[in-house]
Amino acid sequence: MSISLIGKNAKESVTLKLNEMFAILKAKGEPVIHLGGGEPKSKAPIDAITAITAHLNTGEVRYAPVDGTIEMKRAVIRYTQDHYYRKVEPENIIISSGAKQALMVAMQAILDPQDEILYTAPYWVSYPEMARLCGAVPVAVTPEDGSFIPRMKDIEQNVSSYTKAIIINSPNNPSGMIYPAELIKEIIEFAEKKGIYIIMDDIYHSLVFDGKKTANPFDYISDFSDNSKLIIINGISKAYAMTGFRIGWALANKKLIKAMANIQGHQTSGPSVLLQKAAIGAINGVQSGVESLRTTLENNRNVLISKLNALDGVRVTNPDGTFYTFVDFSKYDKDSTRLSNFLLEKVKVLTMPGVEFGMEGYLRISFCGSIKEINEGVERIKWALDPKSPNELYIGDRKLVRDWK
Ligand SMILES: Cc1ncc(COP(=O)(O)O)c(C=O)c1O
Repeated sequence: MSISLIGKNAKESVTLKLNEMFAILKAKGEPVIHLGGGEPKSKAPIDAITAITAHLNTGEVRYAPVDGTIEMKRAVIRYTQDHYYRKVEPENIIISSGAKQALMVAMQAILDPQDEILYTAPYWVSYPEMARLCGAVPVAVTPEDGSFIPRMKDIEQNVSSYTKAIIINSPNNPSGMIYPAELIKEIIEFAEKKGIYIIMDDIYHSLVFDGKKTANPFDYISDFSDNSKLIIINGISKAYAMTGFRIGWALANKKLIKAMANIQGHQTSGPSVLLQKAAIGAINGVQSGVESLRTTLENNRNVLISKLNALDGVRVTNPDGTFYTFVDFSKYDKDSTRLSNFLLEKVKVLTMPGVEFGMEGYLRISFCGSIKEINEGVERIKWALDPKSPNELYIGDRKLVRDWK
């Protein structure tokens, strides 16, 4: 069997693989706890459900325009005005099947083979693989000072004549950190001067805590005409708890959007009209669900962080947003894949290995589940890792016995 180089080199998404493994264990009746999840547990907004149902009931579900329906684009224009205080035009928008596809077609439209694309570590698992799918070279920038916030110096040192784009994800998956507005300003101005694209992956920008806000990239660009290098990615997956609806979008200059639409037109065509109807319902409907999810997550974060702080030897950073925290477990095991496997095998708690996000020795722990799962999950981790733990732990009527040191 002959498989292409891209086919051979494409790595499986470890986060998706672990999610599948979790589902299998759960179906077998194992008492597993998911502390690795990447989606909120709340229901989709009722306005999304009524909108999609009404359209489905017409029985007429046709192809959508390649770059999205005009009604959906109007919803995105409104969203952009509400969140970024900027009026964009329909030609500045492409609607895709999830923020993931919006990112992918953006990369395909700007990257040539051998071009480099920078992103800061820790980073979302898909960035390097997406770059490779374009034949481009992924370059991770790891802050030299060991923090989760890069310095301008870290970025500048990694820019070469091949650099075509920089991806910024704030608040960040997996660290939950918001990058300071001053840094975003510096990066955007630097990129504009050098003619490098800036891709702002803003998918978590509504899920922020402690009254903090993410920077508005529009504040720092001189114009949004065909010379603009700014690309903003967003979607309904996280803020509206609509991961399965697969609707995301990109904002960019009109010429680039046209190129992206041409690519998307041969890949998937426009995203399903039904799912766009649901997205329109969510964006134009009552917004209280977003705030209620945000406050639930903030509360969950507080519980998780105080529990983790009580764990000896781990280094915890308080996330500003998202539903993840990235915890340094290197005192227990420097190999995060081994540690994650150990916790799943011994105490049935799923965490995500930090190495997949570009930093070894860390685990990504999510707080999008229930408080009960957070409390019990961290208790089990503590029992597994603390050598002073009692020899036995009961999960329901199942007895776990420590057979390790
Ligand atoms: C940083 C980041 N960007 C993009 C996405 C993709 O979102 P969507 O579900 O809209 O494809 C995710 C999903 O996990 C993410 O974490």
